Amino acid sequence: MKRHKRHFDDDRLDRQPLERVLNQAAAQREKTPIRKQSYEASQEVQLWLREQALDASHKPPFEPSLFARHREAEWILSSLRHFYELDLISDVIGTAKSGKEATVYCCVADSRTGLDYLAAKVYRPRMFRSLSNDAIYRNNRVQRDERGRVIRDGRKRNTKQTRAKLDQVSNWISYEFQTQQRLYNAGADVPQPIAQIGNALLMSFVGTPDQPAPRLNEVRLDAEEAQRLFEQMLRNIELFLACDAIHGDLSAYNILYWEGRATIIDFAQAVDPRQSDEVYQLLERDIDRVYRYVAPYGVRADPAALAHSLWMKYLTGSLEVEV
Ligand SMILES: Nc1ncnc2c1ncn2[C@@H]1O[C@H](COP(=O)(O)OP(=O)(O)OP(=O)(O)O)[C@@H](O)[C@H]1O
Ligand SMILES: [Mg+2]
Repeated sequence: MKRHKRHFDDDRLDRQPLERVLNQAAAQREKTPIRKQSYEASQEVQLWLREQALDASHKPPFEPSLFARHREAEWILSSLRHFYELDLISDVIGTAKSGKEATVYCCVADSRTGLDYLAAKVYRPRMFRSLSNDAIYRNNRVQRDERGRVIRDGRKRNTKQTRAKLDQVSNWISYEFQTQQRLYNAGADVPQPIAQIGNALLMSFVGTPDQPAPRLNEVRLDAEEAQRLFEQMLRNIELFLACDAIHGDLSAYNILYWEGRATIIDFAQAVDPRQSDEVYQLLERDIDRVYRYVAPYGVRADPAALAHSLWMKYLTGSLEVEV
């Protein structure tokens, strides 16, 4: 009995300072103006990220030191953790590059993948936030529902709910992954896509961790290399068409150059010629931008005529590449 009472008393003693702290905190909250909660810390966003996680209790926690002090550490780790849990990566060791919409990290591939390094493209929270401004439409993205069907009246469906927005972005990231997969399987010069979960894409890494492959706009070629590269790009553009795809944002900024080989990246804005009316202009622009890059090296061609000829072949089913 005494023992019990003492416990009760102890409890009260312990609780008093705690209550004081709680009260002080409550008073403080009343005085402090309410700060806007960060988007990625919002409950729905965190719940959405957690829902995608698997039970990986058999593994040590995923804590790459790279992000220890990173402003968006929680967001990045929640995005990459799934790949760790699926035994696809074992560590994250560097940042390959930060683009406008996403950051690409260099990961150590899990030995079971048979690869050395993998590139993880993680879309930023900003990307998810900007959806209310119809960013997807401005960027020419194809809207898909959860079954992969094209949504034509996406504007009406673009509800204000965070959850719906998150799913929407996740759908087009998945579309980016599926396009890259289709092109890779057809033999195009694109990184091998490995997996996509939520806001992150995993693919083969071009270059080395110390020296990620430079983009074409960062290298100098000789005339012969430039000619070879232009032909390689035209072959790829034709192969893309044979797979019912147009890159839509092809330029020296989305082509990596490593050991004499070009690799096309970033299929976020790819379009299916059967689904969009603006495709011909996009095809023409893709070829023109590549041509403008190689022209100073002495390559001569008529990009508009090349686009026209490829388009005619596409429409008449007489493309020369085999898929
Ligand atoms: N597989 C890869 N291997 C090595 N580096 C890569 C790979 N994929 C992308 N990168 C690097 O990450 C950068 C950003 O990738 P990507 O172009 O796909 O994203 P983005 O956000 O659309 O970028 P941007 O807005 O600059 O076009 C690339 O310019 C490239 O330097
Ligand atoms: Mg890019």
